[in-house]
Amino acid sequence: LIRQARQLVTLKGSSDAPLRGKDMEALQIVEDGSVWIEEGIIRLADQDEAVLRQVGDRVREAEVIDATGCLVTPGLVDPHTHLVFAGSRENEFEMRLKGSTYMEIMNAGGGIHATTSATQKADRDQIFRESRKRLNQFVTHGVTTVEAKSGYGLTLEHELKQLEVAKELDRDHPVDVISTFMGAHAVPAAYKDRPDDFVDQVIEEMIPEVARRKIAEFNDVFCERGVFTPEQSRRILEAGRKHGLLPKIHADEIEPCGGAELAAELGAVSADHLLQASEEGIQRMAEKGVVAVLLPGTAFFLMAESADGRKMVDAGVPVALSTDCNPGSSPTVSLPLMMNLGCLKMGMTPAEVLTASTINAAHAIRRGHEIGSVEPGKKADLTIFDVSNYMSLQYRYGSHHVNTVIKNGQVVVR
Ligand code: NIG
Ligand code: FE
Repeated sequence: LIRQARQLVTLKGSSDAPLRGKDMEALQIVEDGSVWIEEGIIRLADQDEAVLRQVGDRVREAEVIDATGCLVTPGLVDPHTHLVFAGSRENEFEMRLKGSTYMEIMNAGGGIHATTSATQKADRDQIFRESRKRLNQFVTHGVTTVEAKSGYGLTLEHELKQLEVAKELDRDHPVDVISTFMGAHAVPAAYKDRPDDFVDQVIEEMIPEVARRKIAEFNDVFCERGVFTPEQSRRILEAGRKHGLLPKIHADEIEPCGGAELAAELGAVSADHLLQASEEGIQRMAEKGVVAVLLPGTAFFLMAESADGRKMVDAGVPVALSTDCNPGSSPTVSLPLMMNLGCLKMGMTPAEVLTASTINAAHAIRRGHEIGSVEPGKKADLTIFDVSNYMSLQYRYGSHHVNTVIKNGQVVVR
């Protein structure tokens, strides 16, 4: 039993579809809110008095967590990470600060290629240990579910190795890890002059095997000038869909290339990044209900202009937020910091960024029925913050406000 939160943000009634437009501010707050949990599932979420009345005598046996004065929200959901990799790239940070661009570094063999060779060389245990450390940091920031992409293997063997580590983390760690295959993350150097041969390999060799092993749910591609063209991306995402992998796309991150339009055309689950998305692309995403997963930390860290979150919310696109946690363009695990950047750099309101980091993020990984809101029947994933109201979370920026994290009804951070 969690008792007497100053504000309990429930977001109830949003399990069927992500929230859009004005609805993104409808947090459904209960004051003096309590949550009754049984066997890892939320049974009641209401005002303290009402919950106590319904619980009756059972309260005596309950483990009680006092949330007086605190904010309780659904456990935060991060729908876009590159969690599983080895090594790091501080050297590139310095190069960028001295004037090199992210793409220049990648084209010279660094960037994704550098992490790919580190990840190929590392054995499973090392990758597991390094990734588990990041997962531990995620949960201390209030995150209870993360999506994790492969894409630092770039051969069938090493892509499977990454996906197996993700599965093992999912089993071993309280945080749920949802896997995405991203064999089309970069064109390996050996295929530089014949990228279509690599695309064929992703389609003919990797996707069928990943699907056969049921080791990923989604299929993602880095659609960007100099990486994969919209045409190649379409082929890869359609091939994935034939094998039951749902499409996601890294779209319009560095240059506009019609990624948002492609996401809408394919009915992708989400289109992510979108810094350079066109008006037309945004309109079509709204029509098709494609979730925009915005990554303000990446723009911040690459010293670029953020995606226009305000415009997307106003256009009726369901917006979610994420860290993009990865070793090059966004080495962070702080979803609360992304929420702050969502306000300051993308013009979203504190209520909108909270929706974007809970229920809309859950929908971006097809988990809207399980997580992302506090209502009976959902997993008891909750975060308790040491602030008295939801606005305070973004207002008092850069500080650590997480008090307690509950995953599947168990206290995992206190
Ligand atoms: O989402 N844009 C492509 N992929 C990642 C970066 C990966 C890396 O730099 O290692 C991203 O920004
Ligand atoms: Fe990414």
